[in-house]
Amino acid sequence: MGRGGLARFVAPLAEAVPLRFVALRALDRRLNFLSYASKLNYGVVERPHYGHCLLQAALIARKLGYPAITAIEFGVAGGNGLVALERHAEHVEREVGIAVALYGFDSGSGMPDPVDYRDMPYLWQPGYFKMDVDALRTRLSRAELRLGPVEETLPRFLREESPPPIGFIAFDLDYYSSTMAALRIFDAELSRFLPRVACYLDDMVGDIAYAYNEFTGELLALKEFNASHERAKIVPVNGIRFYGGRIPRLWHEQIFAAHLFDHPDYNRPISDLAQLPLREGEGNRPSQKAKPGLIWPRRPRRPRRAV
Ligand SMILES: C[S@@+](CC[C@H](N)C(=O)[O-])C[C@H]1O[C@@H](n2cnc3c(N)ncnc32)[C@H](O)[C@@H]1O
Repeated sequence: MGRGGLARFVAPLAEAVPLRFVALRALDRRLNFLSYASKLNYGVVERPHYGHCLLQAALIARKLGYPAITAIEFGVAGGNGLVALERHAEHVEREVGIAVALYGFDSGSGMPDPVDYRDMPYLWQPGYFKMDVDALRTRLSRAELRLGPVEETLPRFLREESPPPIGFIAFDLDYYSSTMAALRIFDAELSRFLPRVACYLDDMVGDIAYAYNEFTGELLALKEFNASHERAKIVPVNGIRFYGGRIPRLWHEQIFAAHLFDHPDYNRPISDLAQLPLREGEGNRPSQKAKPGLIWPRRPRRPRRAV
């Protein structure tokens, strides 16, 4: 066995994942018995962060009575993310009953020239991540590619196309300047979105070599977006790692929600919580609905013995 082969076996042992979850994952890969939500929580499927965002968007859409949503990946490169997103869309459509339209935006020719230090050229250079357009098209079954500089393709898309409301956006353009251009999507009419849009921003977490910070890159773009938009804010979703029995993962730090405060549906209730019980486990147990299972029904827990 070569070094690579050995690493494949050793790597899972080095993961900070309790052994019971490693076993559960392996079992599910064979027997496929976990629900889709559990597969995402336990990391059984590829790119659970994409699945998580898409699922949450579809659940909000269903709650608010939207029949379909759009998901967008800004920055497609080789296309592994978009291909994974297609697989997640199939699951989500089946489980939630909400149709999903998919779009991928990319130059097609790799990273453009950086504008200045804010694009972090110490990490990325022009031409990195060039797409093999023909090869990718053969792998895609439903996602549509919009190729060219996002500074041009996005305004054209907003002018000429009107897909279902956007519920999930993955921002993976790396540069500050490109992310700023992509964030202009939120200047479009509010009817083009769900009231809260799940967002994934990849360049949030890393070692000192990456040195992501709020003065360069995607984090700077976010900061400037929030400073210049009074009625729309893109903010982290706090505490994802604590819910749903999840195994804490890096991607939990990369999930954001765009809050569109002036959206006509922003204030429409999505929770059935109307009362808090005196004691946990008594009455109609509404406190369970107040937790993250709020729109995703949870399997009821076995009642605890009274103390
Ligand atoms: C890190 S790669 C994307 C990786 C991909 N999301 C994945 O998961 O495999 C970044 C991509 O952003 C694209 N990109 C960066 N700036 C762009 C711009 N201004 N217009 C269009 N594409 C851009 C590059 O072509 C590159 O393919």
